[in-house]
Amino acid sequence: MVRTLDSTERIGVVGAGTMGSGIAQVAAQAGYDVVMRDVETEFVESGFETIEDSLDRFVSKEKLSEADADAALDRIEGTTDLADLADCDVVVEAAVEDMEIKQDIFADLDEAVPEDVVLATNTSTLSITTIASVTDREAQIVGLHFMNPVPVMKGVEVVVGEKTDEAVAEFAHALAEDLGKETWESDDKPGFVTNRILMPWINEGIRAYDEGVASKADIDKGMKLGTNVPMGPLELADHIGLDICLDASETLHEELGDRYKPAYLLKRKVDAGDLGKKTGTGFYEY
Ligand code: CAA
Repeated sequence: MVRTLDSTERIGVVGAGTMGSGIAQVAAQAGYDVVMRDVETEFVESGFETIEDSLDRFVSKEKLSEADADAALDRIEGTTDLADLADCDVVVEAAVEDMEIKQDIFADLDEAVPEDVVLATNTSTLSITTIASVTDREAQIVGLHFMNPVPVMKGVEVVVGEKTDEAVAEFAHALAEDLGKETWESDDKPGFVTNRILMPWINEGIRAYDEGVASKADIDKGMKLGTNVPMGPLELADHIGLDICLDASETLHEELGDRYKPAYLLKRKVDAGDLGKKTGTGFYEY
């Protein structure tokens, strides 16, 4: 028997970066005990800072009381030891988008965590089936793809691998809903629903700028006012991180061919270290 939502009290999160800390935060805000693990103490501390900033934003907007923010923070325990996830009822992995690293983590989790626990991955483009293949619980591996910024974005994509059990997919939907999110489901095809469609949109925005169709501001304004999205493609690329966009685009290109080729300027910017908001320069200055 696999653990279900009824038997879930403690959630493990692997990775304390933008996505991992966001997932830890929404889980704690929903009342779960959380163990947030990263490889270095400084990454765990930085994850806590991100969470505190985000909780402060909710408090200053009067969307959350100070007491509830403090209580959420108290529910999160930080660690650098994967063995500390052993008493979690479900684990969500949100480490870097690198198949080898994810497979190493899943092989270690498979050893460290009881066999009835579901292991989810927040991967945005990598194959759930390939990640699951290194474990002895392939039916219990599922994609739980949160959107950035996790505390604000309502949607979560549930990705079903070749061997994922139907009950495990249902558990993933129920868990995300319990964290206050709405879900949709995708088969384990490159980029799933969101990035398969989003990455070509972003790359086309970059190409349009590089080929002189319009200024950066007008490309973003055109798409924002013209199609009623909150951010245009260049702004959104900066928000996501250009390195993340390039990684996702390269995976799609590799798997789906030339129509997914990343824009030349995206590569040039990543090579120059201009990764968007996080480095202070992307398509815009921050
Ligand atoms: N924590 C808590 N609250 C936050 C927050 C955070 N980290 N970031 C923003 N907010 C809140 C603010 O408090 C604010 O609340 P009010 O509306 O009550 O004022 C609201 O969100 C908007 O914040 P701001 O005014 O500061 O900023 P904004 O209006 O520019 O909105 C945004 C920010 C929510 C990010 C919005 O621009 C947006 O929705 N952009 C699109 C984001 C998107 O598409 N994300 C998905 C990317 S794809 C992905 O993640 C998947 C992948 O695999 C790559």
